[in-house]
Amino acid sequence: MTSKGVALVTGAGGAMGSACVARLTRDGYKVALMDKNEDGLKESVKKASSDSKYWIVDQTNETETRTAVQEIEDQLGPIEALANTVGWCEGTKFADESSDYWHKVVAVNYLAELYVTHPVLKGMIERERGKIVYITSDAAKIGTGGEAVYAGAKAAVCAFAKSIARENARHNIRVNCTAPGATETPLMREVEQQNPEMIKRMVKLVPFRRLGTPEEQADVVSFLLSDDARWITGQVISTSGGLTMC
Ligand SMILES: NC(=O)c1ccc[n+]([C@@H]2O[C@H](COP(=O)([O-])OP(=O)(O)OC[C@H]3O[C@@H](n4cnc5c(N)ncnc54)[C@H](O)[C@@H]3O)[C@@H](O)[C@H]2O)c1
Repeated sequence: MTSKGVALVTGAGGAMGSACVARLTRDGYKVALMDKNEDGLKESVKKASSDSKYWIVDQTNETETRTAVQEIEDQLGPIEALANTVGWCEGTKFADESSDYWHKVVAVNYLAELYVTHPVLKGMIERERGKIVYITSDAAKIGTGGEAVYAGAKAAVCAFAKSIARENARHNIRVNCTAPGATETPLMREVEQQNPEMIKRMVKLVPFRRLGTPEEQADVVSFLLSDDARWITGQVISTSGGLTMC
């Protein structure tokens, strides 16, 4: 397959990030991986059986993130596609949380997206082309108990994505979001071991009566980054097996 240029995947050491690395490699991109977890990054490169390069970055640090973007473009070439999968939260109730926790949730789930998007978008504007996808959450649309601040941060990403989609369509840049529901990841399997009833209750709410897979999430990211999606921008597509239909 001919190279489609460079795709940057953030959160690339995680479950969906890893699936995106594998899928975008198959699609013909030269994939650059970014995450703070080196073991996860190594595993993702191995799974994709590619010679992709990775950058160990704490994405809540603006300087580290901007430096990595600069290095990626210097070493691999211009970033044509950006898939943002970085994210984090703990399942806690808002009334019990500290403001330190809120700041961390907003930093990982919102500010980190801004830190990486700003330098990448500037290059895309200069070249008059580019595609960006943010993995958000159905929690951004309907809220989720135990994830109040996370849901707010993911909703902020959706509004931000729509706004930069409007600002940059004239530069031939498309920006979209996916909004996963519960997806079968190692973390979810851990939760299942500790609390199988909770997963059963979650599955009951999904019309297909199962969890999604990281690969199913990556397939939609791949589509949104493809030319087949050339008439789609500023959208938030639920990738949750029909959990939400709005
Ligand atoms: N798993 C689900 O059920 C689910 C549901 C809805 C939305 N999501 C969202 O999908 C995305 C991917 O989720 P996942 O299940 O693959 O999670 P994951 O925990 O497997 O992957 C997230 C990755 O982000 C990285 N990361 C966290 N903080 C970072 C930081 N400060 N700097 C750099 N990297 C950092 C982690 O190291 C990890 O590799 C996340 O944005 C998550 O919020 C997940």
